[in-house]
Amino acid sequence: MNRKPIFAANWKMNMGVSATEDFLKSFLSKLQGQSFHAEIVIAPPFVSLAKLADILRSPSASNEAQAIQIAAQNCSEHDAGAYTGEVSVLMLRELFVHYVIIGHSERRAIYGETDATLNAKIHKAREANLKPIFCIGETLAQREAGQLEAILRTQLTAGLKEVSDKDLAELVIAYEPVWAIGTGVTATSAQAQDAHAFVRSVIAELYGPDSAAKLRIQYGGSVKPGNAAELMACPDIDGALIGGAALEPQSFLEIIRNGSCTQDS
Ligand code: 13P
Repeated sequence: MNRKPIFAANWKMNMGVSATEDFLKSFLSKLQGQSFHAEIVIAPPFVSLAKLADILRSPSASNEAQAIQIAAQNCSEHDAGAYTGEVSVLMLRELFVHYVIIGHSERRAIYGETDATLNAKIHKAREANLKPIFCIGETLAQREAGQLEAILRTQLTAGLKEVSDKDLAELVIAYEPVWAIGTGVTATSAQAQDAHAFVRSVIAELYGPDSAAKLRIQYGGSVKPGNAAELMACPDIDGALIGGAALEPQSFLEIIRNGSCTQDS
């Protein structure tokens, strides 16, 4: 199965408008003339989406720039109205947003987003034809207590409740073990591969083997230029969701280069 790997920069609460402009200037000049068997995605904070869209979707933007997809880091599960501080899927669509990260562990842990809320966000995103990057993952305590598979199964089953086969085909899953996020501790490629294979097996139970074989599952958690190739060589790992190492143009590019050269083309 030739799944095109997807490398997404999750900038979290970093990179305002001027930093976004600086990043793109450098990143696009490095990218010029290069082609990878990979999809490149950038998820800036909401306030920088318009700047990203202006640069990447300008009629004079290079082919490499046009090919970069824009993602949001979150969306509201509501359409519009009295939800102070929230951003709707239709607002995101206006800014050429294509993907939306849903259920990042920071949203779950710090902002108390539940499986039910995340499920509502996935449905809302699909109504607007946005593609969810749905994040799942266990804490260290859960892993050490032998709960890895139960946690992943629950997050998948509840998060994808009543998501159709057609909508699943537009979705990406990001497996991010919480203990590997921002810690410098990466899952070994064997640990990551095992978890990805398990996720794919649960999707096969829920949606059948064909849908499972087509689904892209990204790994996230301390991905760096030095570990990208080994992780991406695993058969069930289809790209990366990158935090810290995607804040710097050179290291984001090296992750894409090192990670995509090990994939089938
Ligand atoms: P780091 O790459 O900084 O560990 O962050 C991973 C992550 O949370 C991406 O969503």
